[in-house]
Amino acid sequence: MKFAFIIDPLAKLDPGHDTSVALMEASQALGHEVWVTKAQELSVVKSQAWALLQKVQLTPAQLVEGRWVVEPEWYAVSEAGWRPLEDMDAVFMRTDPPVSVPYLYATYILDYINPEKTLVINTPAGIRMANEKMYALQFEEVIPETIVSQDKSVIRKFLEEKGTAVLKPLGGKAGEGILFLDKSDRNFNSLIEISTQQGREPVMVQTYLPAAKDGDKRIIMLNGKPIGAVNRIPTGNEFRGNMAVGGRVAQTEITEQEQRICAVVGPKLQQDGLYFVGIDVIGGYLTEVNVTSPTGIREIDRLSGTHLGEEVITWVEQTKMINS
Ligand SMILES: Nc1ncnc2c1ncn2[C@@H]1O[C@H](COP(=O)(O)OP(=O)(O)O)[C@@H](O)[C@H]1O
Ligand SMILES: [Mg+2]
Repeated sequence: MKFAFIIDPLAKLDPGHDTSVALMEASQALGHEVWVTKAQELSVVKSQAWALLQKVQLTPAQLVEGRWVVEPEWYAVSEAGWRPLEDMDAVFMRTDPPVSVPYLYATYILDYINPEKTLVINTPAGIRMANEKMYALQFEEVIPETIVSQDKSVIRKFLEEKGTAVLKPLGGKAGEGILFLDKSDRNFNSLIEISTQQGREPVMVQTYLPAAKDGDKRIIMLNGKPIGAVNRIPTGNEFRGNMAVGGRVAQTEITEQEQRICAVVGPKLQQDGLYFVGIDVIGGYLTEVNVTSPTGIREIDRLSGTHLGEEVITWVEQTKMINS
């Protein structure tokens, strides 16, 4: 089969960490053609989505004594050419957030792929619908108490009740802009003014979960079912667990409570065409649903001895076979 990956420039990817590389390697290992393009290299011509595509040959990373070892020249690409995306069996939309206006426009272009010909992961409509922070709010029984507001007095009232809270920009990722709020903080007004851009943009404010010090668990969901997990533990004085801010990764299992969360979220993910997703769980509460370019596969495979990339690609093969 032929698979296209819409990614950030290959030269900027970290082959020992990025899930996109793991998925591309798994595709190649299972005998498929791997093609790459970028969100800004898409077009619609005669009501069909086209992309400037390059074929890729990868030198796979090797797991040596618990570490991914990669060649300096880990990929080679062919010359780029325009092709309809429907020539591909599957398209993986893996551009990193933020979900900016150009990102959204890219998803509108992907709407011009016939889903009967090409499986798009995740579906463009699903990505547009699921704000990574706000999607979790529909699962009220499994989330910490949370508000979304741009109104200082609403946020102040919530913080007075809770004592401490975590503030999150709605379009953030990798810990960006996440703030710890304390009701006695004399910077409160200023923090809210900065993060809401003077009340123009709503933010999420959520009860602070003390269990965050023991880790923020990433669970990878494939077609609504959990396939693996990794824990990310804050280090030093940092309260955020994200890998991008120095969170230490650790091997972990999926607990019964987390299985319950997956059972609540999974059917909705399937219904929304969100086939490959990373949910974040702190102290048994769902805190985030990552649908744009969830990561974690490299760390899970390294720590748990799994081959999640191949599981994902095998699922794509089976889904294509059933639908053809
Ligand atoms: N309710 C919470 N209580 C305590 N810490 C939190 C809470 N929500 C998030 N965090 C911390 O902030 C980090 C980032 O939060 P998250 O909601 O996953 O946003 P993102 O990963 O997109 O930046 C987490 O890794 C966790 O350490
Ligand atoms: Mg997160």
